[in-house]
Amino acid sequence: MSAIINDYPWTAHPLVVSAPMARVAKPPLAVAVSKAQGLGFIAAGYTSDNLDDLLEEATNLLSDRKIIHSNDFSVLPVGVGFITWSASLKTAIPVIRKHCPCAVWLFAPPTGFQDLVPWATQIRDATSNRTKIWVQIGSVADAIQVARVVRPDVLVVQGSDAGGHSLARGASIVTLVPEVYDKIGNEIQGPGGKPIQLIAAGGICDGRGVAAAVNLGAQGCVLGTRFLASPESMIAQGYQDEILRASDGGSTTVRTKIYDTVRDIHGWPDEYNGRGLINQTYVDAVQGMMEEENRELYLQAMEEGDQGYGPKGRLTTYAGTGVGLVNKVMAASEIVISVRDLAYKLLYRQKQMSRL
Ligand SMILES: Cc1cc2nc3c(=O)[nH]c(=O)nc-3n(C[C@H](O)[C@H](O)[C@H](O)COP(=O)(O)O)c2cc1C
Repeated sequence: MSAIINDYPWTAHPLVVSAPMARVAKPPLAVAVSKAQGLGFIAAGYTSDNLDDLLEEATNLLSDRKIIHSNDFSVLPVGVGFITWSASLKTAIPVIRKHCPCAVWLFAPPTGFQDLVPWATQIRDATSNRTKIWVQIGSVADAIQVARVVRPDVLVVQGSDAGGHSLARGASIVTLVPEVYDKIGNEIQGPGGKPIQLIAAGGICDGRGVAAAVNLGAQGCVLGTRFLASPESMIAQGYQDEILRASDGGSTTVRTKIYDTVRDIHGWPDEYNGRGLINQTYVDAVQGMMEEENRELYLQAMEEGDQGYGPKGRLTTYAGTGVGLVNKVMAASEIVISVRDLAYKLLYRQKQMSRL
């Protein structure tokens, strides 16, 4: 059984985690996932400004905490994710001290992974090590560097199939997770000499993906795109309809920076871009449209609301290559339970077979 669930005692194996998706993953999603014995992350995203309100809301939603199978009520059983090139550590610290989330997830530092050292140190100090440090990385070199420099509790190993932002150049979890596992191995240890735990992310949408990732060396999995088709996600109807409609994500999604440019988001470190469904914004950019005109058309599309999505639309629809595996809206709790149950069955069946 996986060691990771000892740190999050309300969770069950294999661990199913909902990603801290900026503007999408709010307390209702994270709490629903944790209540189903997964681990839900709230996205602080680009800013730490409204973090206190978000964690207050999560606390209220968890007032019936007994539902969570846990003996340890000294942490809030949800995590918080920060895009660290943009969010403020100074603003975050007093709120983290006040609410003590079980984990903080750090992504995309502005100049290098050294930038994450003050985040890890100050957060650990603020909650006497009760808040675990998760860092999302997308390459073997970054995994080794983060393990040595930041010593996180968890490395989220993000493969190139992931929806939203990740490294522009990268491998899928099929090679990334086992290579990180082999390289980090027992040589590099996390805090307290404990092994650093690996969680896989990118393209995982059902129990088959989770079982595969566990066989590759992960102790659990992060799902982002799959949770876009849950009522608890804060997304426009037009966006959710596109997630349900789209298939064959390897050819219908693309990694690009244009979706940031048209939304006037500047500051992502050069090596990152975002994966989303191909739409008119992207097609026009490839055909040479100037960024200014593309942005102007994007702003016009915003006025169309839900009609602004789709292949002929312009509104950004971040999604991973697994989008074709997401075919219906399900409660977040149902997603967690069905994904975990299938993964468990597949893993158990494999164990039985290996004994023959
Ligand atoms: C809409 C969307 C928003 C995201 N926002 C963030 C974010 O704010 N911070 C972060 O670390 N990762 C973010 N991600 C990436 C996820 O953490 C995760 O790596 C990814 O969703 C996993 O791949 P999947 O979408 O194929 O499941 C986002 C992903 C999506 C789809």
